[in-house]
Amino acid sequence: MNIQENISLKEYNTFGINVNAKRFVSIDSFYSLQQLLKIEKDVFLISGGSNMLLTKDIDKLVVHINMKGISIDRESNNEIYLTVNAGENWHEFVLWCVSQNYGGLENLSLIPGNVGTCPIQNIGAYGVEVKDTITRVEAIEIQTGKLIEFSNTECEFGYRNSIFKNIQKGKYIITAVSFKLTKNQHKLNSTYGAIETELSLKNIKNPTIKDISDAIITIRQSKLPDPKKIGNSGSFFKNPVISRAHFLNLKEEFPEIPNYPISKDTVKVPAGWLIEKSGFKGKRFGAYGVHEKQALVLVNYGGATGGEIYELAQKIQSTIKNKFSIDLEIEVNII
Ligand code: EPU
Repeated sequence: MNIQENISLKEYNTFGINVNAKRFVSIDSFYSLQQLLKIEKDVFLISGGSNMLLTKDIDKLVVHINMKGISIDRESNNEIYLTVNAGENWHEFVLWCVSQNYGGLENLSLIPGNVGTCPIQNIGAYGVEVKDTITRVEAIEIQTGKLIEFSNTECEFGYRNSIFKNIQKGKYIITAVSFKLTKNQHKLNSTYGAIETELSLKNIKNPTIKDISDAIITIRQSKLPDPKKIGNSGSFFKNPVISRAHFLNLKEEFPEIPNYPISKDTVKVPAGWLIEKSGFKGKRFGAYGVHEKQALVLVNYGGATGGEIYELAQKIQSTIKNKFSIDLEIEVNII
């Protein structure tokens, strides 16, 4: 185990924030992770680094989760069960599934991050959430070093949420995730407006999972910044859910407000629209700002500090509160 000192975390977080880890270790096997936890339990985990805003140097031992490998557990004519180690890159895994004609994850193409973190916030895009395919999550309990398995139900998945993000936060290290995917008769999800438009532009009437994946890659590339070029963490805020009465009030003032009914009494409104309406879309403040094509994404053009971006996020929150009486919840972990 090679513990290094004073390592920059710039390459390990998609925001590209340059803070230092006092001590840093990259872990590539389950065994070394268990050994490490015997000597050090107070650790800071980093995997794909795609859902965090680092605002300061990290004093704890930073553990980079880098276990690779995909294994097939069992398969029938129609389904396949796979277990994937936490350090696999998410998008590469999705592309591999698509190339094998394993269906279920194609709508989640091009989401940054690693497989081990996909259950934590139950990643979702274009009408699909990863919870729809996860059968099992395998994790080490930090205090005891024991291996624990969580069924799909035990993960208590919700919109950008799971037990790993709230009641069990910081207790476990996810080491592997198991998925159930389809081998034929795929349940295609192409109803999201932009997908249909993209498919019809290409004149595709009976799409394959590859067609859907390609369409989503095109859509995402057209409005979301590539973290390798412009630092970002995807959607910075959650889409807020407000009461129907509150929504109807807003609709009087803003008849065009996009909305998705959630229940009889609640409505989800897109944070991106609220932020755009408040004049922040495309605003640049030196090295950081709000993305020009998607207002839900805060960006680091290079050299910004996490503190600066966090301040901008708070400014957006207070503006939205004043203008719409809505509390915007930050989706990214602020460290
Ligand atoms: N909108 C604006 N201005 C903007 C952005 C969006 O007016 O700058 C409006 C759009 O016109 C549309 C609505 O907001 O009417 C929704 O926009 P979009 O379809 O782009 O989706 P979103 O709600 O902004 C969510 C997810 C994304 C995911 C997309 C597609 C959350 C917090 N975000 O964004 O997830 O890719 O749907 O499914 O739920 C992520 O979590 O990192 C992420 C990118």
